[in-house]
Amino acid sequence: MLKIENYSIVLKGSDGRSLPVLENINLEVADGTCLGIAGESGSGKSVMAMSIVGLIPKASINNISGHIFIDSKETTNATEDELNKIRGKEVGFVFQEPMTAMNPLMKLQEQIDEVIYAHESNVTPKEAKARVIDALTRAGFKEPEKFLDSYPHQLSGGMRQRAMIAMALVMKPNLIIADEPTTAIDAELQIQLLRELRKQIVEQHLSMLFISHDLGVLRSISDEIAILYCGNLLEKGPTKEIINNPQHPYTCDLISALPRLVQERKLPQPIIGTLPSPDEKLSGCVYADRCKIATNNCYNSRPELKKIGDSHFVACWHK
Ligand SMILES: Nc1ncnc2c1ncn2[C@@H]1O[C@H](COP(=O)(O)OP(=O)(O)OP(=O)(O)O)[C@@H](O)[C@H]1O
Ligand SMILES: [Mg+2]
Repeated sequence: MLKIENYSIVLKGSDGRSLPVLENINLEVADGTCLGIAGESGSGKSVMAMSIVGLIPKASINNISGHIFIDSKETTNATEDELNKIRGKEVGFVFQEPMTAMNPLMKLQEQIDEVIYAHESNVTPKEAKARVIDALTRAGFKEPEKFLDSYPHQLSGGMRQRAMIAMALVMKPNLIIADEPTTAIDAELQIQLLRELRKQIVEQHLSMLFISHDLGVLRSISDEIAILYCGNLLEKGPTKEIINNPQHPYTCDLISALPRLVQERKLPQPIIGTLPSPDEKLSGCVYADRCKIATNNCYNSRPELKKIGDSHFVACWHK
């Protein structure tokens, strides 16, 4: 459904410096599966999400190389017209901040209608309403009819997030890109929402790219997990493998920082240090500075992502 091939993007920093934000990314999302992307703030998760359908402003791009395919159509060289057809219809988006993605002056039904009419002009109002209600139901609204005339500020945070999901689902796209869709809501609602999204993946045979800084969240929704660090993929593999048999020192550190994933009683071990900035021009492994087992070689040259098991890949000189 989605294939990212040797993709790199260099953005322009505020003072004109080149920022290599994503470097040689290779990822695939198979039909009806969910790929989770984990990474700290600044690792390039949102840039990756936006790159897929050409949402990075042209003025901030220095260079792009590699290819991105959606359902075997290449988006990296598509025109703005072609991209507009793909956005919303073939790919649905769910963003972290529903308040910025929704129009505060439009009622819920109008917001979702707008998505429908952007792609199909001859839908009757009755048909549009039925589709809106169906999308809201699939996004977990219990009595969607009651909320059609509500403005965004009249909905709770959780409902606004569900409304965003309904907007992403309404055109029945085959792929959903969700960028931290549950980060702003409380834990219990988050679990419910993840369950509903998982149901859509299974029942509607939907493919999903689900971005989160929280491995615990990714564990409950993803079939596979990819670990992004400073624009580089450090590890990827089936969710169970990544959680139970992590191989990259960074993945191991992330899991120790979240003991509830493996052992309730252990104390969390925060990772010391911070992510290098994309303009630091590191020649070695991007994690070397914070890595407990880094040796000279790790500082000098960058390890490639290598296959170490069934669909399990890791980029580490020690593996
Ligand atoms: N339009 C832009 N122009 C220049 N640099 C950018 C632009 N957008 C993002 N960046 C830089 O790219 C890097 C990755 O940013 P990105 O927003 O993808 O991180 P993220 O992993 O989504 O972080 P967060 O978890 O905080 O959302 C950062 O260093 C950021 O400053
Ligand atoms: Mg982001």
